[in-house]
Amino acid sequence: MKYSKYSTVIIGSGIAGLYAALKIEQQVKLPDGILLITKSRLGESNSRYAQGGMVAVMKDNKSDCVASHISDTIKAGAGLSEFNTVKFISENSDAVVKDLLKLGVEFDRDENNNLCYTKEAAHSVRRILHAGGDATGKMIEQALCRKVSENENIEIYEQTDAVELLVSSGECKGVIVFNNDIGEYETIYSPAIILATGGLGQLYKYTTNPVGATGDGIALAYNAGAVMQDLEFVQFHPTALAIDGDENRFLISEAVRGEGAKLCDADGAEFMGKYDERKELAPRDIVTRANYNEMQKNHTDCVYLNASCIDSKKLAKRFPTISKKCLEHGIDISKDYIPVAPASHYFMGGVRTNLKGETSINGLYAIGETASTGLHGGNRLASNSLLECVVCAYSVAEYLKSVELKTPKQIGEDIKAIIDKYSDEDIVMDEIDVQVLKSKLQNIMWDYVGILRDKKSLTEANELIYRLKADFPRETKCLNREEYEFRNMLTAAQLITHCAMGRKESRGAHFRTDYPDTLDECTHSCIVKEEGIMDYVK
Ligand code: FAD
Ligand code: SIN
Repeated sequence: MKYSKYSTVIIGSGIAGLYAALKIEQQVKLPDGILLITKSRLGESNSRYAQGGMVAVMKDNKSDCVASHISDTIKAGAGLSEFNTVKFISENSDAVVKDLLKLGVEFDRDENNNLCYTKEAAHSVRRILHAGGDATGKMIEQALCRKVSENENIEIYEQTDAVELLVSSGECKGVIVFNNDIGEYETIYSPAIILATGGLGQLYKYTTNPVGATGDGIALAYNAGAVMQDLEFVQFHPTALAIDGDENRFLISEAVRGEGAKLCDADGAEFMGKYDERKELAPRDIVTRANYNEMQKNHTDCVYLNASCIDSKKLAKRFPTISKKCLEHGIDISKDYIPVAPASHYFMGGVRTNLKGETSINGLYAIGETASTGLHGGNRLASNSLLECVVCAYSVAEYLKSVELKTPKQIGEDIKAIIDKYSDEDIVMDEIDVQVLKSKLQNIMWDYVGILRDKKSLTEANELIYRLKADFPRETKCLNREEYEFRNMLTAAQLITHCAMGRKESRGAHFRTDYPDTLDECTHSCIVKEEGIMDYVK
């Protein structure tokens, strides 16, 4: 096996990983250099598909302030958001946006060259910046990819999967990676490994997430012994385009509702008023359950979004990507109802970190969607994720300035044993039809660990996942990326199910029909491999 060493290794090239690479390269002493690895092409990520925008409490936006953003985030978070985290992220938004502008991100501006702000659900003011109308993620990601690619000091490995972290005595010393193109492994030693591996929407049958969102960072960190937090909290977006046969669903941004679109049934009857006085702009979990309930009640596969009340020129300018995509399906959003349904969208849980990105394992950091900083609580406020990605990437770079990044010299027997497992070329592995197993898992998660859960459904899911594991006889080494992803999906699915079973209340995106009330005494859940500690009570 090939060996190498770097002062810092970043895993993932979404907005969190790309921005961290730039900031660390600029600010931190890196005697052994910096490496960015990513399992697909540079920039392929959830980030690329972000539509609505990025929250920014800009100092010159007189209608907004940090206190108001904190209040909205905490209300949406259903009692689980951490005040200090929310404050830190909100206070730093002005600085990171100014830095993104310098890096070439072109947020949309009005005719007087002022930044434009939009509104989404549960925001009390217009504070969301957008770019390219509804292509915010793509515009930010492209600007960052350009800068990273131009930077000769940032080494990049594409088509390379992180498959196991090298942890010994509570310290992360490196990572084993697998190049899926050439089928080769490499051991990389580093005193600072940063997980920026994104979310896990692909665990569910219907999702807005692209194919790479398979929870790799969650499985890697859990298996390495990191403290994991709030894993039962999966966010389902209420309005994914519901076209038959399309399971990876295109998102119809909440910003469309922010601009005035209404949800209705096939006859045009609006229903959100029955569920919440904020109607279409109620927090995401409430709108999702409302849509789901209407669909169940009427035995339909979708509800509808009516955007015809928005001026057609404005619609075309603000939502060019959505307009085009819908038109490809014969839907003119200025006239026709858009069929929409909920889909898994975002993971609030993750690797528990502090505001410096530190996990419970020395030398292992996590940022972006894979981390659980306490910002989102039980239900993420729209467009807070991109902000969290950049602020936390910035803050891990700040922190690493104070750390002496010496590549570990002593490699113990336990780490050698891990490396040996991947070096062993005599292991015989039969081909497995992963696609079939993956699709079974996605159905199980959708049907039993989805928008509504109860003890019976979660028990059923647990048993079915256990049986699927038996059909997939891989403990560590796998044949290819598809198998590694499925190995990680199984771990993440078991963890979500287990944690959902343990939380005997309903809160934010976690809704238990057998425990519909929110309990004041419940707090974060934490789980650690081996110890299995669960903690829901203050
Ligand atoms: P990602 O962008 O998902 O990047 C993860 C990276 O890690 C990828 O490059 C992936 O290939 C790589 N990776 C994963 N596993 C491995 C591995 N084992 N080895 C190597 N590399 C690996 N949020 C907002 O705030 N505003 C929005 O408007 C918005 N709209 C959204 C619309 C859609 C359709 C979706 C799906 C999400 C949206 N979100 C939005 C959420 C937001 O986009 C994500 O939460 C955020 O972009 C996550 O960024 P990230 O850098 O943490 O992860
Ligand atoms: C959207 O545009 O509706 C998605 C925004 C988000 O996920 O924050």
